[in-house]
Amino acid sequence: MDHYCVLGNPVAHSKSPAIHARFAELTGQAMDYSKLLAPLDGFIHTLRHWMAHDGRGCNVTVPFKFEAFRLANTASDRATLAQAANTLKFGDGGQILADNTDGIGLVNDIQINAGISLAGRDILLLGAGGAAAGVLGPLLAAGPRRLVVTNRTHAKALDLVARHADHPSLRDLLQKTELLAQEQQGLEANFDVIVNATASSLGGSAAPVDARVLKPGALAYDMMYGTAAQGFADWARAHGAMPRDGLGMLVEQAAESFAFWRGVRPPSAQVLQDMRKALA
Ligand code: ATR
Repeated sequence: MDHYCVLGNPVAHSKSPAIHARFAELTGQAMDYSKLLAPLDGFIHTLRHWMAHDGRGCNVTVPFKFEAFRLANTASDRATLAQAANTLKFGDGGQILADNTDGIGLVNDIQINAGISLAGRDILLLGAGGAAAGVLGPLLAAGPRRLVVTNRTHAKALDLVARHADHPSLRDLLQKTELLAQEQQGLEANFDVIVNATASSLGGSAAPVDARVLKPGALAYDMMYGTAAQGFADWARAHGAMPRDGLGMLVEQAAESFAFWRGVRPPSAQVLQDMRKALA
């Protein structure tokens, strides 16, 4: 039996153990998956302890994704762009390999589960914190026509865009996609897809942007799910857009982590359907 866990603070609310247990059952993998609470100043110690006790890998969640990336010996391009890792795999001799599956989880949920192709679209990414950094590279890789990042603190949006614009693995993609940081006041109207990667929903705000950015029928995606996503969803619906919460992203990022560890793709769409039924 191989052991995996999610490491964070807090972790009590995490749905990852249930998702990975279902993936393991459906693919016949001999593994277990638990929750591990690390003290805020004790991430490295908790991780090393987990590795010493036969852990094969882990997911990392708030607030340790940046520390996890810095600790790794090797990192995927998408983790390097995000400067953050949500997935670690342990190799021989204590090597730590880092990946970040959040962005591909978002893109797969939009393109496969919701059936909306991002190629050639105009996308607005709201936010420039860790959540936004985790998804910008994979959103670019989906080939939109234009990708605009806007944030309450404009300097952070400029930094995030500059980091991506300078990265060698994105040079070819950026010939097809216009990547910009824009201040909220000057934003143009009519985006096809809006992705809310801010923490504004947690404070109960509807949306940190003017509704004219929404093209009629636009996809308004919130990375939150459950009651935290309600305000943004109501705002989107009231302005003729199609809301979608982040439950599918949660399941799809887990599926990518599972594939990275086990080399097997779990039936994520089926697990997402089951979770939606359970939450209804
Ligand atoms: P996370 O890892 O969840 O992204 P973070 O790094 O603290 O957390 O980033 C939070 C993001 O939400 C930031 O883009 C933040 O904007 P600032 O950079 O200006 O702080 C944004 N945010 C948080 N509360 C917000 C609010 N009420 N309205 C608009 N944006 C908000």
